Amino acid sequence: MSGSGLGIVEQGSVLIREDRILAVGTGLKPEPDEEVIDCEGCVVLPGFVDSHTHLIFGGWRSDEFERRLAGVSYKEIAAAGGGILSTVRATRTASEEELYQLGLTRLQEMSSWGATTVEVKSGYGLETGAELKLLRVARRLAETGIATVVPTFMGAHAIPPEREKTDYVREIVETMLPAVAEQRLARFCDVFCENFMFNAEESRRILEAGRACGLTPMVHADEIEPSGGAEVAARVGAVSASHLLQPSEAGLRLMAENGVVAVLLPGTYLMLREQHRPPVTRMRELGITMAVATDFNPGSCTLVSILLAAQLACLLYGLTVAEALRGITVNGAKALALDSECGRLEPAMSADIVVAAVPDYRHLIYRLGHNPVRMVIRAGRVVYRCCRSPMGIVQQ
Ligand code: NIG
Ligand code: FE
Repeated sequence: MSGSGLGIVEQGSVLIREDRILAVGTGLKPEPDEEVIDCEGCVVLPGFVDSHTHLIFGGWRSDEFERRLAGVSYKEIAAAGGGILSTVRATRTASEEELYQLGLTRLQEMSSWGATTVEVKSGYGLETGAELKLLRVARRLAETGIATVVPTFMGAHAIPPEREKTDYVREIVETMLPAVAEQRLARFCDVFCENFMFNAEESRRILEAGRACGLTPMVHADEIEPSGGAEVAARVGAVSASHLLQPSEAGLRLMAENGVVAVLLPGTYLMLREQHRPPVTRMRELGITMAVATDFNPGSCTLVSILLAAQLACLLYGLTVAEALRGITVNGAKALALDSECGRLEPAMSADIVVAAVPDYRHLIYRLGHNPVRMVIRAGRVVYRCCRSPMGIVQQ
Protein backbone atom coordinates (compact mmCIF):
# COMPACT_ATOMS: atom_id res chain seq x y z
CA MET A 1 0.00 0.00 0.00
CA SER A 2 2.97 2.29 0.13
CA GLY A 3 3.18 4.74 -2.72
CA SER A 4 -0.41 5.91 -2.31
CA GLY A 5 0.82 8.95 -0.37
CA LEU A 6 -2.11 8.48 1.98
CA GLY A 7 0.04 7.92 5.07
CA ILE A 8 -1.36 4.46 5.73
CA VAL A 9 -0.53 2.85 9.09
CA GLU A 10 -0.87 -0.95 9.16
CA GLN A 11 -2.36 -2.40 12.36
CA GLY A 12 -2.78 1.14 13.67
CA SER A 13 -4.89 2.60 16.47
CA VAL A 14 -6.45 5.98 17.10
CA LEU A 15 -6.59 7.30 20.65
CA ILE A 16 -9.47 9.70 21.34
CA ARG A 17 -9.96 12.00 24.33
CA GLU A 18 -13.29 13.79 24.47
CA ASP A 19 -13.88 15.24 21.02
CA ARG A 20 -10.24 15.23 19.85
CA ILE A 21 -7.68 12.79 18.49
CA LEU A 22 -4.89 12.39 21.03
CA ALA A 23 -2.58 10.03 19.15
CA VAL A 24 -2.40 7.86 16.04
CA GLY A 25 0.01 4.98 15.47
CA THR A 26 0.85 1.45 16.50
CA GLY A 27 1.15 0.05 20.00
CA LEU A 28 -1.00 2.78 21.63
CA LYS A 29 -2.26 1.77 25.10
CA PRO A 30 -5.68 2.89 26.33
CA GLU A 31 -6.29 3.62 30.04
CA PRO A 32 -7.94 0.66 31.86
CA ASP A 33 -11.34 2.40 32.08
CA GLU A 34 -11.42 3.45 28.44
CA GLU A 35 -13.70 1.97 25.81
CA VAL A 36 -11.93 0.03 23.06
CA ILE A 37 -13.53 -0.38 19.63
CA ASP A 38 -12.06 -3.34 17.78
CA CYS A 39 -11.71 -2.49 14.10
CA GLU A 40 -9.91 -5.69 13.14
CA GLY A 41 -10.27 -6.33 9.41
CA CYS A 42 -11.43 -2.79 8.68
CA VAL A 43 -9.90 0.40 7.29
CA VAL A 44 -10.14 3.42 9.60
CA LEU A 45 -10.25 6.80 7.86
CA PRO A 46 -10.87 10.46 8.62
CA GLY A 47 -14.57 11.32 8.55
CA PHE A 48 -15.59 12.34 5.04
CA VAL A 49 -16.15 15.98 4.16
CA ASP A 50 -18.95 16.79 1.72
CA SER A 51 -17.95 20.33 0.77
CA HIS A 52 -20.90 21.17 -1.54
CA THR A 53 -24.57 20.33 -0.90
CA HIS A 54 -28.00 21.93 -1.21
CA LEU A 55 -29.39 19.75 1.59
CA ILE A 56 -32.48 21.71 2.58
CA PHE A 57 -35.40 22.07 0.19
CA GLY A 58 -39.04 21.14 -0.22
CA GLY A 59 -40.27 18.85 -3.00
CA TRP A 60 -38.56 16.74 -5.62
CA ARG A 61 -38.37 17.03 -9.42
CA SER A 62 -38.67 13.53 -10.82
CA ASP A 63 -40.91 14.89 -13.61
CA GLU A 64 -38.08 17.09 -14.85
CA PHE A 65 -35.67 14.22 -14.58
CA GLU A 66 -37.86 12.23 -16.91
CA ARG A 67 -38.04 15.15 -19.35
CA ARG A 68 -34.28 15.55 -19.26
CA LEU A 69 -33.88 11.86 -20.07
CA ALA A 70 -36.09 12.54 -23.09
CA GLY A 71 -33.67 15.24 -24.25
CA VAL A 72 -34.92 18.54 -22.76
CA SER A 73 -31.95 20.52 -21.37
CA TYR A 74 -31.48 21.85 -17.83
CA LYS A 75 -31.33 25.39 -19.24
CA GLU A 76 -34.58 24.93 -21.22
CA ILE A 77 -36.38 23.66 -18.12
CA ALA A 78 -35.06 26.60 -16.10
CA ALA A 79 -36.10 29.10 -18.81
CA ALA A 80 -39.66 27.72 -18.70
CA GLY A 81 -39.94 28.46 -14.96
CA GLY A 82 -39.01 24.97 -13.79
CA GLY A 83 -35.70 23.86 -12.35
CA ILE A 84 -34.55 25.76 -9.29
CA LEU A 85 -37.72 27.89 -9.34
CA SER A 86 -40.01 24.90 -8.93
CA THR A 87 -38.05 23.93 -5.81
CA VAL A 88 -38.30 27.53 -4.63
CA ARG A 89 -42.10 27.33 -4.74
CA ALA A 90 -42.13 24.10 -2.70
CA THR A 91 -39.55 25.42 -0.25
CA ARG A 92 -41.29 28.73 0.42
CA THR A 93 -44.51 26.96 1.39
CA ALA A 94 -42.81 24.36 3.60
CA SER A 95 -42.66 25.13 7.31
CA GLU A 96 -39.39 25.40 9.20
CA GLU A 97 -40.24 22.18 11.04
CA GLU A 98 -40.98 20.29 7.82
CA LEU A 99 -37.70 21.44 6.30
CA TYR A 100 -35.87 20.41 9.47
CA GLN A 101 -37.34 16.90 9.36
CA LEU A 102 -36.44 16.57 5.66
CA GLY A 103 -32.92 17.85 6.30
CA LEU A 104 -32.47 15.53 9.27
CA THR A 105 -33.39 12.41 7.29
CA ARG A 106 -31.02 13.40 4.50
CA LEU A 107 -28.20 14.24 6.91
CA GLN A 108 -28.60 10.84 8.57
CA GLU A 109 -28.38 9.17 5.18
CA MET A 110 -25.21 11.13 4.37
CA SER A 111 -23.78 10.12 7.73
CA SER A 112 -24.41 6.45 6.97
CA TRP A 113 -22.02 6.89 4.02
CA GLY A 114 -19.34 8.36 6.27
CA ALA A 115 -19.89 12.12 6.00
CA THR A 116 -18.95 13.88 9.25
CA THR A 117 -18.76 17.38 7.79
CA VAL A 118 -21.46 18.63 5.42
CA GLU A 119 -21.60 22.05 3.83
CA VAL A 120 -25.22 23.20 3.41
CA LYS A 121 -26.32 26.03 1.12
CA SER A 122 -29.46 28.11 1.27
CA GLY A 123 -30.79 29.27 -2.10
CA TYR A 124 -34.27 27.84 -2.48
CA GLY A 125 -35.92 30.74 -0.64
CA LEU A 126 -34.86 33.70 -2.79
CA GLU A 127 -36.49 36.19 -0.45
CA THR A 128 -35.07 37.41 2.82
CA GLY A 129 -37.47 35.56 5.14
CA ALA A 130 -37.25 32.25 3.31
CA GLU A 131 -33.46 32.37 3.00
CA LEU A 132 -33.14 33.03 6.74
CA LYS A 133 -35.56 30.15 7.38
CA LEU A 134 -33.29 27.75 5.47
CA LEU A 135 -30.22 28.91 7.36
CA ARG A 136 -32.00 28.51 10.71
CA VAL A 137 -32.81 24.93 9.70
CA ALA A 138 -29.09 24.41 8.94
CA ARG A 139 -28.27 25.71 12.42
CA ARG A 140 -30.72 23.28 14.02
CA LEU A 141 -29.17 20.44 12.04
CA ALA A 142 -25.74 21.49 13.30
CA GLU A 143 -27.05 21.29 16.86
CA THR A 144 -27.91 17.59 16.43
CA GLY A 145 -24.17 16.83 16.33
CA ILE A 146 -24.65 14.18 13.62
CA ALA A 147 -22.17 16.09 11.48
CA THR A 148 -20.39 19.41 11.41
CA VAL A 149 -22.84 21.44 9.35
CA VAL A 150 -21.17 24.35 7.55
CA PRO A 151 -23.76 26.93 6.46
CA THR A 152 -23.48 28.90 3.22
CA PHE A 153 -25.74 31.73 2.14
CA MET A 154 -26.66 31.34 -1.53
CA GLY A 155 -29.40 33.89 -2.15
CA ALA A 156 -27.78 34.30 -5.58
CA HIS A 157 -28.86 30.84 -6.71
CA ALA A 158 -31.52 32.06 -9.16
CA ILE A 159 -33.60 35.14 -9.87
CA PRO A 160 -37.00 34.98 -8.16
CA PRO A 161 -39.82 35.08 -10.75
CA GLU A 162 -41.46 38.11 -9.15
CA ARG A 163 -38.30 40.27 -9.28
CA GLU A 164 -36.10 42.14 -11.73
CA LYS A 165 -32.52 40.92 -11.54
CA THR A 166 -30.94 44.31 -10.70
CA ASP A 167 -33.48 44.79 -7.95
CA TYR A 168 -32.87 41.35 -6.56
CA VAL A 169 -29.08 41.79 -6.58
CA ARG A 170 -29.60 45.01 -4.63
CA GLU A 171 -31.77 43.17 -2.09
CA ILE A 172 -29.08 40.52 -1.66
CA VAL A 173 -26.41 43.15 -1.11
CA GLU A 174 -28.37 45.61 1.00
CA THR A 175 -30.78 43.42 2.97
CA MET A 176 -30.05 39.70 2.87
CA LEU A 177 -26.31 39.71 3.46
CA PRO A 178 -26.42 42.12 6.42
CA ALA A 179 -29.28 40.09 8.00
CA VAL A 180 -27.42 36.78 7.55
CA ALA A 181 -24.25 38.29 8.98
CA GLU A 182 -26.01 39.95 11.90
CA GLN A 183 -27.67 36.69 12.94
CA ARG A 184 -24.43 34.76 12.30
CA LEU A 185 -26.30 32.28 10.16
CA ALA A 186 -23.61 31.53 7.54
CA ARG A 187 -19.86 31.23 7.16
CA PHE A 188 -19.70 31.40 3.36
CA CYS A 189 -21.42 33.21 0.50
CA ASP A 190 -21.90 31.37 -2.81
CA VAL A 191 -23.16 32.55 -6.23
CA PHE A 192 -24.42 30.64 -9.28
CA CYS A 193 -22.10 32.42 -11.71
CA GLU A 194 -23.34 31.72 -15.23
CA ASN A 195 -23.98 34.14 -18.08
CA PHE A 196 -27.69 33.26 -17.99
CA MET A 197 -27.92 33.61 -14.19
CA PHE A 198 -25.57 35.94 -12.29
CA ASN A 199 -22.87 37.06 -14.70
CA ALA A 200 -19.27 37.59 -13.67
CA GLU A 201 -19.76 41.24 -12.74
CA GLU A 202 -22.92 40.60 -10.68
CA SER A 203 -21.26 37.64 -8.99
CA ARG A 204 -18.22 39.71 -8.08
CA ARG A 205 -20.41 42.43 -6.60
CA ILE A 206 -22.38 39.99 -4.44
CA LEU A 207 -19.32 38.08 -3.26
CA GLU A 208 -17.46 41.27 -2.35
CA ALA A 209 -20.49 42.50 -0.42
CA GLY A 210 -20.56 39.13 1.35
CA ARG A 211 -16.89 39.42 2.18
CA ALA A 212 -17.49 42.90 3.64
CA CYS A 213 -20.07 41.25 5.94
CA GLY A 214 -17.56 38.61 7.02
CA LEU A 215 -18.70 35.78 4.73
CA THR A 216 -15.95 33.99 2.78
CA PRO A 217 -16.71 33.71 -0.95
CA MET A 218 -17.13 30.49 -2.95
CA VAL A 219 -18.46 30.16 -6.50
CA HIS A 220 -20.50 27.82 -8.74
CA ALA A 221 -18.21 28.41 -11.69
CA ASP A 222 -18.30 27.60 -15.41
CA GLU A 223 -20.75 24.71 -15.07
CA ILE A 224 -23.27 25.10 -17.89
CA GLU A 225 -21.18 27.38 -20.12
CA PRO A 226 -17.88 29.28 -19.85
CA SER A 227 -18.79 32.42 -17.87
CA GLY A 228 -15.60 33.70 -16.28
CA GLY A 229 -16.45 32.01 -12.97
CA ALA A 230 -12.94 30.75 -12.25
CA GLU A 231 -11.59 34.29 -12.73
CA VAL A 232 -14.24 35.69 -10.38
CA ALA A 233 -13.36 33.08 -7.75
CA ALA A 234 -9.68 34.03 -7.87
CA ARG A 235 -10.28 37.79 -7.96
CA VAL A 236 -12.57 37.85 -4.91
CA GLY A 237 -10.30 35.50 -2.94
CA ALA A 238 -12.79 32.62 -2.89
CA VAL A 239 -11.90 29.54 -0.88
CA SER A 240 -13.26 27.28 -3.62
CA ALA A 241 -14.82 27.14 -7.08
CA SER A 242 -17.20 24.29 -7.88
CA HIS A 243 -18.09 22.39 -11.06
CA LEU A 244 -15.50 23.93 -13.46
CA LEU A 245 -16.59 21.94 -16.48
CA GLN A 246 -15.48 24.73 -18.82
CA PRO A 247 -13.07 27.11 -17.08
CA SER A 248 -10.72 29.25 -19.16
CA GLU A 249 -6.97 28.70 -19.05
CA ALA A 250 -6.55 32.19 -17.59
CA GLY A 251 -9.12 31.36 -14.90
CA LEU A 252 -7.33 28.16 -13.97
CA ARG A 253 -4.00 29.96 -13.71
CA LEU A 254 -5.53 32.59 -11.49
CA MET A 255 -7.07 29.88 -9.31
CA ALA A 256 -3.67 28.22 -8.94
CA GLU A 257 -1.97 31.53 -8.07
CA ASN A 258 -4.60 32.35 -5.49
CA GLY A 259 -4.92 28.90 -3.93
CA VAL A 260 -8.60 28.44 -4.87
CA VAL A 261 -9.68 24.82 -4.30
CA ALA A 262 -11.49 23.14 -7.23
CA VAL A 263 -14.56 21.25 -5.99
CA LEU A 264 -15.37 18.49 -8.49
CA LEU A 265 -18.97 17.29 -8.68
CA PRO A 266 -19.06 14.24 -10.94
CA GLY A 267 -22.57 13.23 -9.85
CA THR A 268 -23.92 16.40 -11.46
CA TYR A 269 -21.93 15.79 -14.63
CA LEU A 270 -23.47 12.31 -14.77
CA MET A 271 -27.05 13.30 -14.00
CA LEU A 272 -27.07 16.26 -16.39
CA ARG A 273 -25.28 14.14 -18.97
CA GLU A 274 -22.88 17.02 -19.57
CA GLN A 275 -20.49 17.05 -22.50
CA HIS A 276 -17.51 18.76 -20.89
CA ARG A 277 -15.34 17.31 -18.14
CA PRO A 278 -13.25 19.46 -15.84
CA PRO A 279 -9.65 19.75 -17.10
CA VAL A 280 -8.24 17.53 -14.36
CA THR A 281 -4.87 17.01 -16.08
CA ARG A 282 -4.37 20.78 -16.34
CA MET A 283 -5.47 21.25 -12.73
CA ARG A 284 -2.84 18.72 -11.66
CA GLU A 285 -0.15 20.44 -13.74
CA LEU A 286 -0.99 23.77 -12.16
CA GLY A 287 -1.04 22.27 -8.67
CA ILE A 288 -4.69 23.14 -8.00
CA THR A 289 -6.07 21.34 -4.95
CA MET A 290 -9.00 19.11 -5.92
CA ALA A 291 -11.88 18.28 -3.59
CA VAL A 292 -14.80 15.99 -4.47
CA ALA A 293 -18.38 16.53 -3.26
CA THR A 294 -21.94 15.38 -3.95
CA ASP A 295 -23.76 18.63 -4.90
CA PHE A 296 -26.83 16.91 -3.47
CA ASN A 297 -29.94 18.81 -4.67
CA PRO A 298 -33.36 17.95 -6.16
CA GLY A 299 -32.50 18.96 -9.71
CA SER A 300 -29.05 18.44 -11.13
CA CYS A 301 -27.83 15.78 -8.69
CA THR A 302 -29.76 13.66 -6.19
CA LEU A 303 -26.64 11.87 -4.94
CA VAL A 304 -26.29 11.65 -1.14
CA SER A 305 -23.33 9.30 -1.02
CA ILE A 306 -19.99 11.06 -0.72
CA LEU A 307 -18.29 7.72 -1.31
CA LEU A 308 -20.10 7.23 -4.60
CA ALA A 309 -19.07 10.78 -5.54
CA ALA A 310 -15.44 9.73 -4.98
CA GLN A 311 -15.98 6.61 -7.08
CA LEU A 312 -17.47 8.68 -9.91
CA ALA A 313 -14.57 11.14 -9.69
CA CYS A 314 -12.25 8.26 -10.56
CA LEU A 315 -14.43 6.64 -13.20
CA LEU A 316 -15.71 9.77 -14.95
CA TYR A 317 -13.00 12.36 -14.30
CA GLY A 318 -9.90 10.17 -14.12
CA LEU A 319 -8.83 10.87 -10.54
CA THR A 320 -6.60 8.29 -8.89
CA VAL A 321 -7.92 6.39 -5.88
CA ALA A 322 -5.67 8.45 -3.61
CA GLU A 323 -6.80 11.75 -5.19
CA ALA A 324 -10.44 10.82 -4.75
CA LEU A 325 -9.94 9.83 -1.10
CA ARG A 326 -8.03 13.06 -0.44
CA GLY A 327 -10.85 14.87 -2.25
CA ILE A 328 -13.42 13.74 0.33
CA THR A 329 -11.12 14.14 3.35
CA VAL A 330 -8.23 16.58 3.60
CA ASN A 331 -9.02 18.51 0.40
CA GLY A 332 -12.73 18.62 1.21
CA ALA A 333 -11.70 20.22 4.50
CA LYS A 334 -9.51 22.71 2.60
CA ALA A 335 -12.48 23.63 0.41
CA LEU A 336 -14.20 24.74 3.62
CA ALA A 337 -11.11 26.27 5.28
CA LEU A 338 -11.44 23.57 7.94
CA ASP A 339 -8.18 21.72 7.29
CA SER A 340 -6.76 22.52 10.71
CA GLU A 341 -9.90 20.99 12.24
CA CYS A 342 -10.79 17.87 10.25
CA GLY A 343 -9.97 15.74 7.20
CA ARG A 344 -6.91 13.95 8.66
CA LEU A 345 -6.29 11.45 11.43
CA GLU A 346 -3.77 13.46 13.42
CA PRO A 347 -3.37 14.59 17.02
CA ALA A 348 -5.47 17.66 17.94
CA MET A 349 -7.88 17.17 15.04
CA SER A 350 -11.58 16.63 15.70
CA ALA A 351 -12.21 12.93 16.39
CA ASP A 352 -14.15 12.42 13.14
CA ILE A 353 -13.65 8.82 12.06
CA VAL A 354 -15.07 6.34 9.57
CA VAL A 355 -14.65 2.59 10.03
CA ALA A 356 -15.12 0.73 6.74
CA ALA A 357 -15.24 -3.04 6.28
CA VAL A 358 -12.84 -3.27 3.36
CA PRO A 359 -9.56 -5.18 3.12
CA ASP A 360 -7.64 -2.16 1.83
CA TYR A 361 -8.20 1.47 0.84
CA ARG A 362 -8.64 0.68 -2.87
CA HIS A 363 -11.84 -1.25 -2.16
CA LEU A 364 -13.46 2.00 -1.05
CA ILE A 365 -13.47 3.06 -4.70
CA TYR A 366 -13.39 -0.32 -6.42
CA ARG A 367 -16.69 -1.61 -4.93
CA LEU A 368 -19.01 0.60 -7.00
CA GLY A 369 -22.16 1.60 -5.14
CA HIS A 370 -21.31 -0.60 -2.15
CA ASN A 371 -21.55 0.87 1.32
CA PRO A 372 -18.80 -0.59 3.53
CA VAL A 373 -19.27 1.94 6.37
CA ARG A 374 -19.71 0.12 9.70
CA MET A 375 -19.30 2.97 12.14
CA VAL A 376 -19.06 6.75 12.09
CA ILE A 377 -17.65 8.80 14.96
CA ARG A 378 -18.05 12.56 14.93
CA ALA A 379 -16.34 14.74 17.55
CA GLY A 380 -15.64 11.61 19.63
CA ARG A 381 -19.23 10.36 19.65
CA VAL A 382 -20.59 7.37 17.72
CA VAL A 383 -23.21 8.87 15.40
CA TYR A 384 -23.80 5.88 13.15
CA ARG A 385 -23.48 2.14 13.60
CA CYS A 386 -24.38 -0.29 10.85
CA CYS A 387 -26.99 -2.66 12.26
CA ARG A 388 -26.95 -4.89 9.18
CA SER A 389 -23.52 -6.18 9.93
CA PRO A 390 -21.83 -5.53 13.25
CA MET A 391 -18.18 -4.60 13.62
CA GLY A 392 -15.81 -7.50 13.69
CA ILE A 393 -17.76 -9.38 11.02
CA VAL A 394 -16.15 -8.26 7.81
CA GLN A 395 -18.15 -9.13 4.72
CA GLN A 396 -16.08 -9.31 1.58
O1 NIG B 1 -25.08 23.03 -8.17
N1 NIG B 1 -26.05 25.18 -10.16
C1 NIG B 1 -26.88 25.52 -9.36
N2 NIG B 1 -27.27 24.80 -8.35
C2 NIG B 1 -27.35 23.41 -8.36
C3 NIG B 1 -28.58 22.98 -9.05
C4 NIG B 1 -29.73 23.19 -8.20
C5 NIG B 1 -31.02 22.72 -8.76
O2 NIG B 1 -31.12 22.34 -9.94
O3 NIG B 1 -31.96 22.75 -7.97
C6 NIG B 1 -26.08 22.80 -8.84
O4 NIG B 1 -26.02 22.07 -9.82
FE1 FE C 1 -24.46 23.25 -6.36
